[in-house]
Amino acid sequence: MISSVCVIALVVLVLPSVESFISIGSGNTHVTITNTAVLKKIYEVCEAVAESEERPFKPTGSSAEELLRACLGTNTGQVAGAKFHEALNQIYMQNGLVDRDFLSSDPHHFNSEAFKEGHSLISQGVSSVKASIRKDNLQAARETLGKVLHILQDFYSHSNWVELGYRSTYRNLIKPHLTIDNVADVGTPTCSDCASGTCPNPLLPSIMKEKKLTSGYMGLFSSNKPAGKCSHGGDSDLSSSHNPRGGISKDERRAHNAALHDTAVSLATDASLELLEDIRGAVGNIDFLRMMGIARTAVLCFVIDTTGSMSDDIAEAQRVAHSIIDNKKGTQDEPSEYILVPFNDPSFGPLIRTTNPDKMKAEISKLTANGGGDEPEMCLSGLQLALNGAPPSSHIYIFTDASAKDIHLEGTILALIRSSKSTVSFFMTSKSRSARSLSRQGHSGVDFQVYYKLALASGGQAIEVTKANLPSATDIILDTSTSALVTVLQRARNPGRVEKFPLLLDASLSNVTAYLTGTNLKFTLHSPSGASQAHTVSNGPLATIQAVGNLLRLQFKNFNETGLWSISMESTNAYTIKVTGQSAITFIYNFVEEFGGPHPGFATLDGRPQNGLPAKLLITITGQKGAEALKLQEVALVEVSNVNVANGTFKEIGGGGFLVTVNPVPDGEFVVVIKGEDKTTSSYFQRQTTTQMSLSKVKVNAAVGNAMVPGKDFKISFTVTTNGTGGVFTIVAKNDKDFPLTYENRLTVNTGSSASGTVTVKPPASTASGTDVTLTILAEGPGDADSNYAVLRLSVLAEVTDFTPPKCEIVHVNAICPNDCSQANWDLSVNITDGNGSGIERVSIQKGSGKFSYVTVVEGGIPVVMAYYNASCCSPDATVTAVDKEGNVGKCSYSVERSRGVSLSLSLPLWTYLLVSVFSIMRDVLPL
Ligand SMILES: *[C@@H]1O[C@H](CO)[C@@H](O)[C@H](O)[C@H]1NC(C)=O
Ligand SMILES: *[C@@H]1O[C@H](CO)[C@@H](O)[C@H](O)[C@H]1NC(C)=O
Ligand SMILES: *[C@@H]1O[C@H](CO)[C@@H](O)[C@H](O)[C@H]1NC(C)=O
Ligand SMILES: *[C@@H]1O[C@H](CO)[C@@H](O)[C@H](O)[C@H]1NC(C)=O
Ligand SMILES: *[C@@H]1O[C@H](CO)[C@@H](O)[C@H](O)[C@H]1NC(C)=O
Ligand SMILES: *[C@@H]1O[C@H](CO)[C@@H](O)[C@H](O)[C@H]1NC(C)=O
Repeated sequence: MISSVCVIALVVLVLPSVESFISIGSGNTHVTITNTAVLKKIYEVCEAVAESEERPFKPTGSSAEELLRACLGTNTGQVAGAKFHEALNQIYMQNGLVDRDFLSSDPHHFNSEAFKEGHSLISQGVSSVKASIRKDNLQAARETLGKVLHILQDFYSHSNWVELGYRSTYRNLIKPHLTIDNVADVGTPTCSDCASGTCPNPLLPSIMKEKKLTSGYMGLFSSNKPAGKCSHGGDSDLSSSHNPRGGISKDERRAHNAALHDTAVSLATDASLELLEDIRGAVGNIDFLRMMGIARTAVLCFVIDTTGSMSDDIAEAQRVAHSIIDNKKGTQDEPSEYILVPFNDPSFGPLIRTTNPDKMKAEISKLTANGGGDEPEMCLSGLQLALNGAPPSSHIYIFTDASAKDIHLEGTILALIRSSKSTVSFFMTSKSRSARSLSRQGHSGVDFQVYYKLALASGGQAIEVTKANLPSATDIILDTSTSALVTVLQRARNPGRVEKFPLLLDASLSNVTAYLTGTNLKFTLHSPSGASQAHTVSNGPLATIQAVGNLLRLQFKNFNETGLWSISMESTNAYTIKVTGQSAITFIYNFVEEFGGPHPGFATLDGRPQNGLPAKLLITITGQKGAEALKLQEVALVEVSNVNVANGTFKEIGGGGFLVTVNPVPDGEFVVVIKGEDKTTSSYFQRQTTTQMSLSKVKVNAAVGNAMVPGKDFKISFTVTTNGTGGVFTIVAKNDKDFPLTYENRLTVNTGSSASGTVTVKPPASTASGTDVTLTILAEGPGDADSNYAVLRLSVLAEVTDFTPPKCEIVHVNAICPNDCSQANWDLSVNITDGNGSGIERVSIQKGSGKFSYVTVVEGGIPVVMAYYNASCCSPDATVTAVDKEGNVGKCSYSVERSRGVSLSLSLPLWTYLLVSVFSIMRDVLPL
């Protein structure tokens, strides 16, 4: 069952280098270990979900995309694997970053015998992951999960657990209520001297005999270590040249430690699986899969102005939302999440986020227009909430008829757009009657300039229409609310110019649509076979053209002709062009930088790439049949508002991943364009990203370690570096939860050097665990010369006091199953208690497709959940999970096959009074 998953290759960030336990490298790396464990667990959970829904689970092939489709149960239709890859990348990237951001922190690597502290980091981290998932902050959960897995994996490489002969994992590490025992104290020598540095096992016989736990000391900056202690080993460990010399790290597979390294890798993988299982138990199968990026990808996100003049617009937003919800129900295009942010003046928010379509309908129906006048509104504040609350690469739609009052947020919004890669489109309606004279400076004196700028920067549209025409413009929202939307081309020209835009359309595309914005646009559309259609023909041989406000929408007709199409623009008025379609062929990308140290790797850039250096990016391509069916031919950085193109060179790193280097990089704002061949249809494709990026001479670095504690100050230090104009920089820090921030807003940075500052965040004492806060730190050089930013996601975790899991006890099993399993049922009764812990929050069936019911009784002042499970003998395995309020998990598992024909009676049968409420376990979770 599990073995079939091992062949699935995913985003394995493998580059040829030394074989090691490092973040990036060939052989066994943190990423390959994490990838193996994550995919195994996803496979297992998908299978359990399919079983509980009584549908088959049969991936059509071994690619991640096929696993995704089988898991969602939509074997037909196009489901783009991009979001899945993106989610996994968030885990892998943070996993790797522990080696950069916590380089010298012993507990993060189980170095220098910091076992207690490492154990506590794991316990806090796991609690934080569970709390984040419960609050639906999935990105925060993934990032913390990546870090925690790294710490756990390092235990097996950096401690002597493997040398001590253990061949199974140290379970205590993921059990917060248990302790790490028998650690060698600081005065106890642990290693013998190893002059060659390559001794198979330098541990002292006394340590081996007493099974004392120890780990290597890491001397990054000094060679000092307590007398007689083992070192980590390797070039960057200065302590390894001091007696006792050598090291016990199993990071790299060398001749002298090959077997130890292999065991460490296999135990690190098993331990990762156990930690994932614990999280799955706490959050349930469905939320676990959502955290892993297994979900329908469409998200519907509206930001709506609710001032007095907006009632028509609100009604239209309601109509569109209802139409999407009703028409897409049950299809793979049904949004997996709905987000709504109202704003007016002076208030904005709250952000409403739900997976329940009826709740979205209700919330949007509640909006009413009132107050305000012609005054500017808090539009950017509302947008800020949406950009932080929506998953990355979302489409966000803003309805407004007023200019933005909170223009000071522009820099923060641009940073958030670049970092989230979300697309922002504006529907700007005029309060006055006519939209005849559409211009940047709106007809009613309303300044929409910043909206045009943000739409362009994010790859969205800025559409100005009359209120009466709004319903014709919102089709664009229906077009984009699909799981498999791709952009083939996007360009902007201001001033406009006569230019022919080639469009490579491939066989996988459907619903090809072009959007042009501008006034009095003249153009001709050409097909590969020579047919053409002028802008004056609204229903021609190639497309139907619909005009509303400043927008033209061209729906390509009978689209069956692949090859090189083109749009010839003949206007000198400013215009934008965007061509989209639906296809499973797409790609994800991240600008990255290389980092050195004992465990080198690549890190996603928080901000804009550095001026003067080659741009490096990691891209992953994905298609219906996985990356193997695609051939990448070209990657380039292309200016959206200009004609400059910079070709990149690329190196395949496995699983559809490529490391791309571009040098030199265009000076202006650019996007990423790829071209390639779909081998299944022998047709050529072109895709481009929509978020504009540009280089900066400034750099802002910041990293977050632990979670914030409610009511306590949390300090984040950051560093600003510049190779450009030095002087006094303006620092602007913003967060989306309005938590109080303290920092110096001026920082002196000299050319070629760096300076540091601190931002202190204080989450109110009442903040719930799992709340996540997005902090943006913006640094602007003197005279607005240059700027850059860092975007950080911070989680809040109240101090956890209950680490004891609920106790689940099997009290009765009645399992007499005949050979023909369909002829009989088996059943199981369990008692679940949480002692004097935080209390049981829910019980559920994690595996099995039978009927489940329970009652709670109070016995001796302690609540006891008595549960009863009854299933067909054809569903022989069952796991009952009980979760307490802190996310600790207790379990009972039973398998009939192993004990066929056994009736085990531990007490009197209880089910007579258990049949109170019977739920179908298809609901996955039964709240208590
Ligand atoms: C895509 O095109 C098909 C067929 O032309 C149509 O049925 C479907 O509704 C379109 N999808 C969208 C999202 O427009
Ligand atoms: C393309 O569409 C046209 C019009 O629907 C049709 O006549 C033609 O046969 C189609 N060509 C192919 C190759 O399917
Ligand atoms: C900054 O300048 C230094 C010294 O001139 C150079 O070594 C470094 O590569 C530059 N960094 C960037 C990002 O341009
Ligand atoms: C980029 O590569 C393409 C295809 O290899 C080539 O046609 C084009 O001329 C190159 N452009 C530049 C600026 O080198
Ligand atoms: C299960 O719980 C019930 C209710 O507290 C109790 O009466 C019964 O003895 C328990 N069974 C076992 C085996 O502990
Ligand atoms: C309840 O808590 C007390 C104090 O923490 C502890 O001594 C006792 O053993 C606990 N009882 C149970 C049943 O866990």
